[in-house]
Amino acid sequence: MTLPKKVRIVEVGPRDGLQNEKRVIPTAAKILLIEQLVDAGLTYIEAGSFVNPKWVPQMADSAEVFTGISRKPHVTYAALIPNLQGYEKAISVSANEVAIFAAASEAFSQKNINCSINESLQRFEILMAAAQTQKIPVRGYISCVVCCPYSGAVNVKTVATIAKELLAMGCYEISLGDTIGVGTAGPVKNLVETLAQDIPLEKLAVHMHDTYGQALTNIYAALEMGVSVVDSSVAGLGGCPYAAGASGNVATEDLVYLLNGLGIEHGVNLQKLIIAGNNICQTLGKTTGSKAAQALNRHCSDSSI
Ligand code: HMG
Ligand code: MG
Repeated sequence: MTLPKKVRIVEVGPRDGLQNEKRVIPTAAKILLIEQLVDAGLTYIEAGSFVNPKWVPQMADSAEVFTGISRKPHVTYAALIPNLQGYEKAISVSANEVAIFAAASEAFSQKNINCSINESLQRFEILMAAAQTQKIPVRGYISCVVCCPYSGAVNVKTVATIAKELLAMGCYEISLGDTIGVGTAGPVKNLVETLAQDIPLEKLAVHMHDTYGQALTNIYAALEMGVSVVDSSVAGLGGCPYAAGASGNVATEDLVYLLNGLGIEHGVNLQKLIIAGNNICQTLGKTTGSKAAQALNRHCSDSSI
């Protein structure tokens, strides 16, 4: 088992991080966050989602966000979408990529997108055809890869079947979501091992929510297995509106701190990232969820005394 030399970080803070916030966040603050994340070196940003605004009001201004950001040519600005309608909205504001999201649990699929797993796959097939014609890369998420908040433990074989279906319909990568952050390294290793029997590791990413404080350990386990794409959210913001009590993804600052310690390339400037995290937390009126940012913020204020 060798660790990868390089990790690609998928920053989901502007979408997964902000979608669950109750207070109205000015569009300008979202745009500033994205621009600061890019300035810190992140090259893949999930900038918003095109879902029913009645279901997720916080993402209702995603079109304004996409049209308001000053784009950098080396950066991918991606949008999360549940169906063709979302795809068309995302493309109309020049999203570079889209991400579709299925679940490995029927109950979660119903709560989150109001349809069965099979119905969701049929919806995706329709938009995949459009994406292929327009040469838009599509990333695929699978939620609840370890456990569902409504129906409990999830069978790895179900995850494997859905992952293969998403790849077969044209997704270039599958992001494995521990939506409620209950997984530990054992089940995560088992999951990656099982999937790797049929799927090249380069096509797998991990998306670890940190509810039980296991996200970094799970990520380390996945890195050891050969996974080299990791999703994270600045300041550890977020959760899923349809997974009550689930906390945000692993904080990007904590992930970067870990990768620095391991000598793994990632291209992100930790200081600039912390500033981006501090700014959005100030806007949200909350303390950063990143342990590394908390420690480094303390260190900076101590050394300035
Ligand atoms: P539905 O009500 O079954 O949809 O919702 P429908 O097709 O019957 O249409 C009903 C209304 O929705 C219509 O409007 C449509 O136009 C509208 P009306 O006629 O009532 O005015 N509609 C849309 N509006 C905007 N954008 C669209 C769209 N599609 C239909 N794309 C739907 C089905 C999927 C739309 C709904 O359930 C929904 O929006 N769900 C979103 C849930 C969501 O965003 N959850 C959070 C993201 S997933 C997540 O966080 C997990 C992840 O991070 C990975 C992990 O952690 O595991 C990715
Ligand atoms: Mg998520």
